[in-house]
Amino acid sequence: MYVESVGVVGGGTMGGDIATVFLLAGIPTVVRDVNAVQIEKVRRHVEGRFRERVSRGRLTPQEGERRLGALRLTTGWEPFADVDLAIEAVPENMSVKRAVLSELDRVLPPLSLLASNTSALSITAMGRATNRPERVAGFHFFFPATVMRLIEIVCGEDTDRDTVLTLVRVAEEIHKLPVRVRECPGFVVNRVLMRSLSEVFRFQEATGVAPAAIDRAVVEAHAAPMGPFQLCDALGLDVALDVSQTLEHSYGERFHLGALITDRVKAKHLGQKTGAGFYDGATPDPDPTDVDRARELVRLQQLAAFTEAARLVDDEIASPHDIDLALRAGAGLPLGPLAWADAEGLDQVMAELEALRSRYGDRFAVPASLERLVHSGSLGRTAGRGYHVYRNVYGRTGL
Ligand SMILES: NC(=O)c1ccc[n+]([C@@H]2O[C@H](COP(=O)([O-])OP(=O)(O)OC[C@H]3O[C@@H](n4cnc5c(N)ncnc54)[C@H](O)[C@@H]3O)[C@@H](O)[C@H]2O)c1
Repeated sequence: MYVESVGVVGGGTMGGDIATVFLLAGIPTVVRDVNAVQIEKVRRHVEGRFRERVSRGRLTPQEGERRLGALRLTTGWEPFADVDLAIEAVPENMSVKRAVLSELDRVLPPLSLLASNTSALSITAMGRATNRPERVAGFHFFFPATVMRLIEIVCGEDTDRDTVLTLVRVAEEIHKLPVRVRECPGFVVNRVLMRSLSEVFRFQEATGVAPAAIDRAVVEAHAAPMGPFQLCDALGLDVALDVSQTLEHSYGERFHLGALITDRVKAKHLGQKTGAGFYDGATPDPDPTDVDRARELVRLQQLAAFTEAARLVDDEIASPHDIDLALRAGAGLPLGPLAWADAEGLDQVMAELEALRSRYGDRFAVPASLERLVHSGSLGRTAGRGYHVYRNVYGRTGL
């Protein structure tokens, strides 16, 4: 089917930016929020993003006005009667999402598609709240949606091929990079990111090193585009905690963010959206001794991210190529975790994991795919074969 109009339900951190992406691509979009104040914020947000594009010469004022004119805002459901694709971006709570999906099923035309922007919840469970589970899939944007190129297209157990193909085309039409993912809690990017964040929070709790020192060490090592605490402030501490709790519930203690974030969420310090999170303005200058201590964490984080990416390979959630692509486009990592391990040497990575396992336990267990590759002599980049195949083993990049 051809998608000519889009509906977004929930105009919070993600919803307003998702609507902007569709409008910029010239696709008429309606946004619904239960909260009229939030609706006004969406209007200001979308107008602001359009003004930026026009002032940077990326859009003519006339074209900007025409595309912005295709935005509709509502607190009701009526405008959804002619929507081809509806995307829900309401809070990360299964009963709220199921109620929204069931309502959308009632108001949308029978052939329209339903999608969820969920970060970690089951698409299958949401789809079964409707009478069209084959037309329900995950369409997962990353923060900020106008900037990050990745979309994870998540297939639930009932999602049909036509739905997936249509969503891949829609993603391309709005200039994004679609990666197909089989359903599992957290999908690809959040599983890897949250596994790595869990090590950050564990390290912080054990050492008392200040968040600003940890952020500085990670950025200076070029391991990620921003520090983990800055990232949580940008995403929303409540969202990060919800996602990690879903993952802890599904996979066990290797996902655990701990008291530091829980206390802030309880105090409603949710990050940039409330004006305070780990930081309440500029990042303080860290103590250089603390930054030094935090350097050992960077390697731990990289190894943890790799183990989770390798488990995704083991569970056949996505291909090694798509996993690395997703982490680069969705989390801004300079190198996907599997390509990183290939570059380090898989035998070396395995030896480090064995040592970490005896020190910290099963959360650093050697993934089955790593063991297989090492035993078959596929030791990574220098061997020409590891998680990826390398044609020019002396060249610069492997992917
Ligand atoms: N924040 C992120 O960085 C991020 C990134 C990717 C995906 N997500 C996912 O996107 C979804 C939304 O997250 P968010 O950060 O934008 O949340 P948010 O809390 O900022 O916004 C949610 C909005 O939904 C509205 N809402 C609640 N119930 C509603 C209903 N029945 N109908 C219409 N509107 C309703 C609320 O008023 C609020 O404005 C979640 O599933 C989250 O996991 C978030």
